[in-house]
Amino acid sequence: QNVIYRAGVLGRTPPVPTDFAGLERLARRKTSRRGWAYIAGGAGEGATMRANREAFDRWKIVPRVLRDVSHRDLSVELFGRTLPAPVLLAPVGAAELAHPDADVAIGGAAAELGVPYILSNQGCAPMEATAAAMGEAPRWFQLYWSSDDDLVDSLLARAKAIGADAVVVTLDTTLLGWRPQDLNLGSLPFARGEGIAQYTSDPTFVRLVRERIAAAAGARPEVEVTLGAIRSLLSMSRRYPGRLLDNLRSPEPRAAVETFLDIYSRPSLTWTEIESLRERTDLPVLLKGILHPDDARRALDAGVDGIIVSNHGGRQVDGAIAALDALVGIAPVVEGRVPVLLDSGIRTGSDVFKALALGADAVTVGRPHLYGLAVGGRDGARDAVANIIAEFDLTLGLSGLTSVKEITADAVTRT
Ligand code: FNR
Repeated sequence: QNVIYRAGVLGRTPPVPTDFAGLERLARRKTSRRGWAYIAGGAGEGATMRANREAFDRWKIVPRVLRDVSHRDLSVELFGRTLPAPVLLAPVGAAELAHPDADVAIGGAAAELGVPYILSNQGCAPMEATAAAMGEAPRWFQLYWSSDDDLVDSLLARAKAIGADAVVVTLDTTLLGWRPQDLNLGSLPFARGEGIAQYTSDPTFVRLVRERIAAAAGARPEVEVTLGAIRSLLSMSRRYPGRLLDNLRSPEPRAAVETFLDIYSRPSLTWTEIESLRERTDLPVLLKGILHPDDARRALDAGVDGIIVSNHGGRQVDGAIAALDALVGIAPVVEGRVPVLLDSGIRTGSDVFKALALGADAVTVGRPHLYGLAVGGRDGARDAVANIIAEFDLTLGLSGLTSVKEITADAVTRT
């Protein structure tokens, strides 16, 4: 925070705007129309995206004074690790729509800040490559439960091998939400090969693709060349340079995209699969996308290690309850038995403060680090999150508190 202020005093303008509206404006200018539709867009009419913000606006902080706040400690402990701040980087798929360095840049940004990046199952780089760019810094892995159990096991084994501290299972995306911005442009990213690197780098997935090709070859030997196939070829060869000719001779890229679309999710998912996780991994498991207190109760019964209250940044169910409003009902059910995280709508340090006051142990941010990435690659993602943490530090001190655990419900009031 001192660094940011000193730059201001010396008359330097920060490379990344320090207010969210400014960050959003600049990110939009730097991003293609198609990229912006995917990154900034929400489900339906955008009601839940707005509700996420309105919920934060309804709560106000009630500062206390004269309490010596010269030393402040933002650290929190999660799953045996001390983190420098209660702000993690949410998993984001297809981030190359914001910047070509995508996951590797976001991972590098998180590593510089020392806060975990939750690597997305729909990342644009194999998780091993992102992890390699992060050194020893903390990383978690986010899983979408595939319709193929072998693939689930393979992804969990890779997460373990890259040193993930925890696995986040996202539950609110068994079907993709109604996203008019993307639909109207006819531009869902995955069909063009963005966000499938976790799959194409997976041995189980490659086997499934080969099986599909073999089956298709039996029925119809020649490869059908369509515009979509050519686009995915080109986007694949961007990621694997030097392979263009191989790719052109091979039906694999198209089969890879088709296989992905068939198996990336399991709409029939129930608590039975979640309960089987204990046998599948020894990593702590968090469930992401919990909005109902009864589901939080059920999650505790299933023995999970943490809950992420989230409506996916308003991208799934339009009209869904704001994440912060859901937290108010869920925190008393969990009663501190496992960590509760919150995302969806966090834009500022004071939002972080309010979420913690209402029972979250930490928060994750999605759009903020993506917009920072769009504006300035790795440094931009780092600065966008650093700004939120710096403002959180000031908010804490100016509210008369010196540590995260001192933030309790009486620090806020509903208006
Ligand atoms: C997401 N989110 C997401 N979640 C997840 O579990 N796996 C994923 O691959 C993605 N992909 C993704 C892409 C993009 C472009 C966005 C904006 C979001 C949801 C994300 O993890 C998080 O829940 C929200 O972004 C939080 O809301 P805010 O901070 O964006 O308001």
